[in-house]
Amino acid sequence: TLVVDVSDSGRQIPDTLFGIFFEEINHAGTGGLWEELVNNRGFEAGGTRVPSSIAPWTVVGKEPAIFLETELSSCFEHNKVALKIDVQCDKCPSDGVGVSNPGFWGMNIVEGKKYKVVFFVKSKGALEMTVSFRETEGGRILASSNIIASASEVSNWKRMETTLEADASSSDSSLYLTTTKKGVIWLDQVSAMPVDTYKGHGFRSDLVNMLIDLKPAFLRFPGGCFIEGQRLRNAFRWKNSVGPWEQRPGHFGDVWSYWTDDGFGYFEGLQLAEDIGARPLWVFNSGISHTEEIDTKDITPFVQESLDGIEFARGAASSKWGSLRASMGHPDPFDLKYVAVGNEDCQKKNYQGNYLAFYKAIKAAYPDIQIVSNCDASSKPLNHPADIYDYHTYPKEYETMFNNADVFDKTPRNGPKAFVSEYALIGEQAKQGTLLGAVSEAGFLIGLERNSDHVIMASYAPLFVNANDRKWNPDAIVFSSNQVYGTPSYWVQFMFRESNGATLLKSQLQTPHPNSVAASAIICKNSQTYLKIKVANVGKSPINLKISLKGIESSEATKATKTVLTSADASDGNSFANPTKIVPKRNPHTSAGKEINDILPPVSFTVFDLLI
Ligand code: AHR
Repeated sequence: TLVVDVSDSGRQIPDTLFGIFFEEINHAGTGGLWEELVNNRGFEAGGTRVPSSIAPWTVVGKEPAIFLETELSSCFEHNKVALKIDVQCDKCPSDGVGVSNPGFWGMNIVEGKKYKVVFFVKSKGALEMTVSFRETEGGRILASSNIIASASEVSNWKRMETTLEADASSSDSSLYLTTTKKGVIWLDQVSAMPVDTYKGHGFRSDLVNMLIDLKPAFLRFPGGCFIEGQRLRNAFRWKNSVGPWEQRPGHFGDVWSYWTDDGFGYFEGLQLAEDIGARPLWVFNSGISHTEEIDTKDITPFVQESLDGIEFARGAASSKWGSLRASMGHPDPFDLKYVAVGNEDCQKKNYQGNYLAFYKAIKAAYPDIQIVSNCDASSKPLNHPADIYDYHTYPKEYETMFNNADVFDKTPRNGPKAFVSEYALIGEQAKQGTLLGAVSEAGFLIGLERNSDHVIMASYAPLFVNANDRKWNPDAIVFSSNQVYGTPSYWVQFMFRESNGATLLKSQLQTPHPNSVAASAIICKNSQTYLKIKVANVGKSPINLKISLKGIESSEATKATKTVLTSADASDGNSFANPTKIVPKRNPHTSAGKEINDILPPVSFTVFDLLI
């Protein structure tokens, strides 16, 4: 029996409670949310040295008709590698020789859509090139455009731009840059993007819409381990990720083991937050990687970098770093109010010293910024000042995940607030996203709602996975070049999306199964006021549930709906073949009144919505 006191004035849940955490992991951004189709657009993936790794570019044609070589001859100061294409054929094959790029496991080219292709080129002699999208298998041409320039126009580096409109579709295509003319061509910074990205900001719309549907209150970004690096030289550093895309050096993210051109950089993270209506929460490197630590006495440059980053986000357009933001198309400040010093670094020798240096400098310059410490204060007080502390939990047993609901029950309320910035069931029971994992997380989130006088933010991790690069399982959103689906964990977050800013009512659950059933009741105010009751049953048996509404006349609760996330098999998940196997199913519910009687299926998450 769940007794809900509807006459209770309740307590407001922070409007920041449920948000999302975007990390560059699993090709989430590069080859994912960031809709750059070209993989390794600057031929830099082997680092700024030659020979560099041009993979996944491949040669079109064979020696001796064509020779490829990487050279340090680019016009771009921070990414010197360029590709030299030496075309030796007097009579070249009619469909040309050159290079092709399959993108990230195949480019998705859609009939009728337009694609902007930009590249930098230099040539000995006049230039005659064809830019095309071709199906990777078989070479069917989907879109094509010719580029012609006189010798004098391209004797030095020149930016070329063309828009291709596809007259056929394939989700496994490549970009081709080819020629039938003998001569030498240098290429660098080759980009291909659909013209219709989300708000024209470069994001893949189908993936952005999945985020918007969660109504996230905040966006934590860009990591995670990504901001730490195994080695400091491979950590994400914001200054290398801003300004014109073609001038960004890119870097090898050595924790998740892939190259990124950093097209999705610091600016794009801030822009994404704004576009989806979420508050940005920027995580920066604390002078600590997985294997190295900067001594606190030497931390000043890192501190300055964080201050500059804040100025970039919210400084006046006339300020040094604010003017760079303005030049990128955003003269108004971004609404940056939260920063986190490092990720999972609390146990590192220099963390506390480094943290304090960041804390003091940021508070002095920006007193309103809320600073997140990596040190867990859920069971003992911190020995340093912080507004918020990080809490990460990745249990492998669903019972542990579910019962983590009470982890903050006893935390003293006089310290910093908690940010559950990463949570998920992982391992055998969670696989690539199971119902069992999701329902155990629902139980945990009900506990967070109950403790939301202390826990002010929570986000699942990781958010995205490109199915071709599963570095971490499970994830909330799975995609390929042309498909996307939410795992059951995604749908649980979806079912909590009305909690931000809602009123939590007093409710009492009387059950012989306290370790497998959890419930909460909130009042939501959108266009209408309604009571939302959520019940998670992670047990293997059905449960007879009686909801008794106190303080309401039986006629007051008029219309009810019931939304259920369940499946016959708790180890089920969604897939590209069956993307909606486990999604919330909504039905009218007839027994609304002072009392609701229902049967909760085994391993299920049920939401009752009652207009009151
Ligand atoms: O979410 C995946 C990883 O888990 C994050 O990068 C890190 O913070 C945690 O260890």
